[in-house]
Amino acid sequence: MNSQKLSLRDLQVAHQRVLLRADFNVPLNDQGEIVDDTRILEALPTIHYLLEHQAKIILLSHLGRPNGSPQTRYSLAPVARHLTKLLGPIVNFVSDCVGPLVDQAVLTLQEGNVLLLENLRFHQEEEANDPAFARALAAGGDLYVNDAFGTAHRAHASTTGITAYLPQAAMGLLMEKEIQYLEGELNNPKRPFLVILGGSKVSDKIGVIQRLMQKADTFLIGGAMAYTFLRAQGIETSLSRVEADKIDLAKDLLVEAQERSIKFLLPLDCLAVQSIQAAVPTKNVPLTITAGVPEGWEGVDIGLETRLRYAQEIASAKTILWNGPVGIFEIPDFSGGTRSLAEAIAANRQALSIIGGGDSVTAVKQFGLASMMSFISTGGGASLELIEGKELPGIAALTPRFP
Ligand code: 3PG
Repeated sequence: MNSQKLSLRDLQVAHQRVLLRADFNVPLNDQGEIVDDTRILEALPTIHYLLEHQAKIILLSHLGRPNGSPQTRYSLAPVARHLTKLLGPIVNFVSDCVGPLVDQAVLTLQEGNVLLLENLRFHQEEEANDPAFARALAAGGDLYVNDAFGTAHRAHASTTGITAYLPQAAMGLLMEKEIQYLEGELNNPKRPFLVILGGSKVSDKIGVIQRLMQKADTFLIGGAMAYTFLRAQGIETSLSRVEADKIDLAKDLLVEAQERSIKFLLPLDCLAVQSIQAAVPTKNVPLTITAGVPEGWEGVDIGLETRLRYAQEIASAKTILWNGPVGIFEIPDFSGGTRSLAEAIAANRQALSIIGGGDSVTAVKQFGLASMMSFISTGGGASLELIEGKELPGIAALTPRFP
């Protein structure tokens, strides 16, 4: 179980130098400005906890994929500025994450102050989980806390290797919350437990479907991945994106759902277009054996009847997990299906609603409905792997609570 690890609250952090691995991998625009600061805001409870308990905080993070060499556009300097705005003038930034500059800054670090080190991935040893690099990172601290849930599926020097060189390695408050929702709540869900899966590929979601077949009562399928299932049922999908090599697997999953008496709902209709761009003519087409997507057209969103049908299921659910948009929501004309599901989830006040990372999080935020959800994960790949029931390396490497 991912939850059986030491927690930040188990540590004696007063007067200690705490190495806090955060995931500040935030989106930046061309001007280097932070477009979405959710991951920074979500790290604040742990930072505040450490400040209130008189710790000296050394923040570690990566940003983007600079492939092991320093590049200005991947600098954490904008994050340092943002943290200063949020926390006040207690934040200092060092332009490297190991070496003499860091040693000097750590020597003069005071309790109640925060040091943010430059992007870990400016050194290729980070992703290689190089032991000497992990040891060098660890040298600046007395204790280690991992709050970088979004990076917990990576076995890198700052997420796994480092823990070998420090006496205690604990989960931060965000890490604990993510595990509580994505593992704890989903393992013992209030029923009916409804899972909404979208996104482009069945292949990305196989592990999640197989795992959740053991738990869920109902699946609502949308997005491009739905067309592979529809094709498996012999429905014409025309130009819609289908993973030809996954059709047999889709058939097997449909059979398994039937055998387990799980409701596995596929779109009854879709919004189809002849080319994927804004302001093109659209058609709402039924998806049946006798009338599928017309030749030369492709599905880009769930249709009107499907929206109503799916909303009915959402209304009676007690636990809802959503991963993946059900249409190309980035184009406003094709966002209606994803929006209708987000609104239906927001309207169901009795359900625990968990938005499991990635594009569905972007969609919910875009529709202004984020505050109506019970929990929104900060992880993309990490949330999927946790939901699949995998042990994440960044969690596995932490100190067990009951050794
Ligand atoms: C993420 O955004 O999913 C995490 O920060 C991990 O980033 P990565 O996929 O580049 O390892």
